[in-house]
Amino acid sequence: MSKSNVEPHLIVVFGATGDLFHRKLLPALFRLVKRRAEPVPYRILGVARRGDLDDASFRMLCAKALESAGVAESDSARAPFLAALDYQTLQDGVEDSYRSLAERIDALETAHRLPHNRIFYLALPPQAFPATIAGLGAVGLNRSAGFTRLVIEKPFGRDLATARELNALVHTAFEEPQVYRIDHYLGKETVQNLFVFRFANALFEPIWNRDRIEHVQITVSEELGVESRAGYYEQAGALRDMVQNHLTQLLCLTAMEPPAQFEADAIRNEKVKVLRSIAPISEDDVVFGQYTPGNVDGAQVRGYLGETGVAPESKTETFVALKLAVSNWRWQGVPFYLRTGKRMPKRLSQITVSFRCPPVSMFQPFNTCVLSSNQLVITVQPDEGFDLVFEVKAPGDSMTMRSQRMQYRYHEHFETLPDGYETLLRDVIVGDQTLFVRADEVEKSWELFTPVLERARAVHGYAAGSWGPAAAERLVVSEDHRWVQR
Ligand SMILES: NC(=O)c1ccc[n+]([C@@H]2O[C@H](COP(=O)([O-])OP(=O)(O)OC[C@H]3O[C@@H](n4cnc5c(N)ncnc54)[C@H](OP(=O)(O)O)[C@@H]3O)[C@@H](O)[C@H]2O)c1
Repeated sequence: MSKSNVEPHLIVVFGATGDLFHRKLLPALFRLVKRRAEPVPYRILGVARRGDLDDASFRMLCAKALESAGVAESDSARAPFLAALDYQTLQDGVEDSYRSLAERIDALETAHRLPHNRIFYLALPPQAFPATIAGLGAVGLNRSAGFTRLVIEKPFGRDLATARELNALVHTAFEEPQVYRIDHYLGKETVQNLFVFRFANALFEPIWNRDRIEHVQITVSEELGVESRAGYYEQAGALRDMVQNHLTQLLCLTAMEPPAQFEADAIRNEKVKVLRSIAPISEDDVVFGQYTPGNVDGAQVRGYLGETGVAPESKTETFVALKLAVSNWRWQGVPFYLRTGKRMPKRLSQITVSFRCPPVSMFQPFNTCVLSSNQLVITVQPDEGFDLVFEVKAPGDSMTMRSQRMQYRYHEHFETLPDGYETLLRDVIVGDQTLFVRADEVEKSWELFTPVLERARAVHGYAAGSWGPAAAERLVVSEDHRWVQR
């Protein structure tokens, strides 16, 4: 996030025939290379089990992927980028196959005069992580004369035990400073802007605490249903898929203390402290939901149980709402509400900070209006920016008030926002771990949510196109709050 010098390097992507590589990583790598002020020698080696590909046919696949990502054939950066791509077949779990990979890496580094700076990116299904990590370690690809970094995609474990097991396996071959656990939400500009917003503006920090803040809401909603991912989603559900990682990261950045330095471990220490301060989540503070048939954006859609690949009696949650208590000096008594769901009215990632009302309303005698609280609404996506909601006097004779918003939108001030993966890949290349999840952080998060996953649960239906089950209302109403739906 802060360092800028890029050394020559080789990126090895495992899962190079997959969706993530073609749709996200490849276009992000292209933009990253194109944006560099000075050219830096690099190669990208795609690895997968598929045996019918060679360098030439792999480059053709990649050319199509770039085209789908909007890179024009006439773009002068395209041909040299494609020429820097190579392909290697690998059978996971077969040691000889990793030996061949090591030889190929050596050959590429020699041919292109690259120092031994290596990045291994696991864009693989999670079941393939262990064999790949062990394979790299077995043939000595976990160390080199330059730097060696390991990037691991989500999901990192499916509960506390599996996350600990995976961390232990990673640490048999790699040291923690070599490991970059991805949460792509952290790559988003608006999420990183939370640091600046909170710690570079004297206006907000003095009121960012229990004295001035009434409650905080974090909503990540999707219009889409499960689509073609039922195989994965049936085993995961919304809590594992969204809450344990993305929403928890947003909560940590909202609630953390200012770090002593703007430096990866100082920041990650503060995030872990937030997780340690969260009280165990009681059964009454969680609501699970599952979408039923309904209407989204004018179209009638199926319920979750009618989706292809979903078990007829499935209890998998497509919605979760939770109330969390961050029990520390700054936040004691301030509820943090987290909510995520599929098939909701719109796609939205938003943090709403509701401030306390003035202690006395001198306006009450004049009319019947009730003061609403000021709010700061930080929109992570889409339409990135923030809104400040405050009261004004409505013009006219009577003292009537109206809530108004002051808006800031990124796109009105900056031409382009880099994609999250572009930011994260740049940080891996320069060795900045600030935006990556540390081993203890991922375990603390699972420690919090694993008991919730293991408890028997009621799953409430909600119509597709609604903001979730009615039961989710009771979480907030019991505290005299309301969900914010903007
Ligand atoms: N797609 C996204 O937008 C997205 C977003 C966030 C996170 N992720 C994460 O990124 C990872 C990859 O996702 P993806 O969508 O790219 O998956 P995918 O389309 O299914 O691709 C998986 C890739 O892994 C390779 N592979 C190697 N060993 C494998 C094994 N044992 N089983 C199955 N495939 C194996 C596959 O190629 P061969 O079969 O030829 O080996 C293929 O290249 C997952 O962990 C996912 O959770 C994806």
